[in-house]
Amino acid sequence: MLKSHGCGALRREDVGERVTLAGWVHRRRDHGRLIFLDLRDRDGIVQVVVRPSGDDAAYAAANEARGEYVLQIEGEVAARSEATVNPNLPTGEVEVIAERVEVLNAAKTPPFAVNEDTVEVDELVRLRYRYIDIRRPQMLAALELRDRLNQQIRAFMSGRGFLEVETPIMVAATPEGARDYVVPSRLQPGAFYALPQAPQQLKQLLMVAGVERYFQIARCFRDEDLRADRQPEFTQLDLEWSFCEEDDVLALLEELFAEVTAALRPDLTVPRPFPRLTWHEAMERYGSDKPDLRYGLELSDCSELAARSAFGVFSKAVAEGGRVRGIVMPGGASLSRREVDGFTDLARTMGAPGLVSIQFTAAPAEATEDDMRSPVLRHIGVEDARAIGERCGASAGDLVLLAAGEAGMVATVLDGIRRELARRLDLADPTVLQYGFVTDFPLVEWDAQAGRWNALHHPFTAPQAADTGLLDSDPGSARARAYDTIANGFELGSGSIRIHDREVQEQVFGLLGIGREEARERFGHLLEAFEYGAPPHGGFAFGIDRVAMLLAGRENIREVIAFPKTQSASDPLTGAPQPLTAEQLAELHLHVRTPIADG
Ligand code: AMO
Repeated sequence: MLKSHGCGALRREDVGERVTLAGWVHRRRDHGRLIFLDLRDRDGIVQVVVRPSGDDAAYAAANEARGEYVLQIEGEVAARSEATVNPNLPTGEVEVIAERVEVLNAAKTPPFAVNEDTVEVDELVRLRYRYIDIRRPQMLAALELRDRLNQQIRAFMSGRGFLEVETPIMVAATPEGARDYVVPSRLQPGAFYALPQAPQQLKQLLMVAGVERYFQIARCFRDEDLRADRQPEFTQLDLEWSFCEEDDVLALLEELFAEVTAALRPDLTVPRPFPRLTWHEAMERYGSDKPDLRYGLELSDCSELAARSAFGVFSKAVAEGGRVRGIVMPGGASLSRREVDGFTDLARTMGAPGLVSIQFTAAPAEATEDDMRSPVLRHIGVEDARAIGERCGASAGDLVLLAAGEAGMVATVLDGIRRELARRLDLADPTVLQYGFVTDFPLVEWDAQAGRWNALHHPFTAPQAADTGLLDSDPGSARARAYDTIANGFELGSGSIRIHDREVQEQVFGLLGIGREEARERFGHLLEAFEYGAPPHGGFAFGIDRVAMLLAGRENIREVIAFPKTQSASDPLTGAPQPLTAEQLAELHLHVRTPIADG
């Protein structure tokens, strides 16, 4: 090794020790003729002093060194004087008096400072020079956390008898609701592999194969719209389990998340047992299937009142099958008209035509016209406004915000408003990681655009036994044996008890508009396997990137991925995706209709 110690490892006990260090110049300062170098490696930073009285070559090398030069240093560990101890550095009590300094490699001035985490750097530049970005302690810490997360997960799963099995990346398409990334076949002209959106069917086949308990830290690929918590390729902890029921999976997950969090973030509070909500309850109380449970701000339903309201916006919404629901902002009566309008603007970005506001300066039950402020008070009427305030549980000094219209839109809008209110009122305690489970999801949802039912989870999810009769008569009301894990307002993962019976699977395919012929073509292998002794089974998958993001306290999964893609699914570092040469295209039997422009 070119070094005897890590830079961050040196302590007072090492004083007098001769060491060889190697790393990057984090910072360089000249004091008179003394040169101070902060030398950095993965272990940390230590101060190196180069004296002009020492070796000439060493001094010349230190003099030449600039930020991010790679140096090797030989010298003796010395105690720093009382006045120069740096309490902010773990190595702050010592310094290394260099006797030999060698430049192992020079460095150009980096495109951004490595030694300042607070500097805002354009993300594209960070990704283009990711190898420099990762030198920043915060990035390195995120990768270290991820490494430990993977190790914890492996140890936990393996300790409970789950077998880690690798499944292929070049597969036949498996639907999870996104577009596939595909790989053209050279040997079979016109045929394509799909990259797995998840190893769903393969893990079910492993259950038929008698593996009983499977897990994998699996890379998944989905061509879908990207967001802060979505990447085109991402990593799941994927698991499948034979002979289990919902409660077994949820109990396992609770232990896993609690254990992992305690190990990686002992400073965070994890309330247990994890609360369980049915999907219906979550939608009613929070307007979301992934509510942040660290705070209340629950929604109220005013549809009944609204149905007989003189205010056309309200009565029309209900008459058309929609709803009118509200949320209370405690203390919101003191907001200015402009501030209240800000919520309306936010609601519009989420698809609402508007938002109705009522500010109460007195308790709604006693409020007179003078105690209520609303741009539409005249239309609603004092009586109804009072009733709405009461229905929503508003107190004197509160603001009630109401959304009216199609039920899904109303839920989306009020969920967004709820999150915004929590942000403004500072209700989301950052020291709490509030996990929870959402259960009893609907099996299917109506896709009005396509004019058919879509699986809410995926087509392999079992309907609840009590609801199988609804599959023909009222599919929209049938509940699935599906569950999600949520935390602090994010969906971490999803799973379900699966169908393991060919007939039921064919029935569900039929409901989803997948005819017998198509089902045989796309899923024949699974249907066939179900006829060879498929055990009852279920499973789960959660996004490791999302869990790492939460544990690292970051707001974007790109911050916990070494080489993430941009919003347009490209990699500024390697230039992927790239066009193929004419020869490659020919070999793959491909003809590109619209070649992408250079640059
Ligand atoms: P699902 O599609 O819900 O379920 O995915 C499970 C979890 O994977 C993560 N995830 C993503 N993370 C980052 N970027 C993405 N584009 C992305 N898409 C999904 C989320 C999500 O909750 N096969 C089923 C699981 C099962 O039924 O066992 C599945 O993949 O955290």
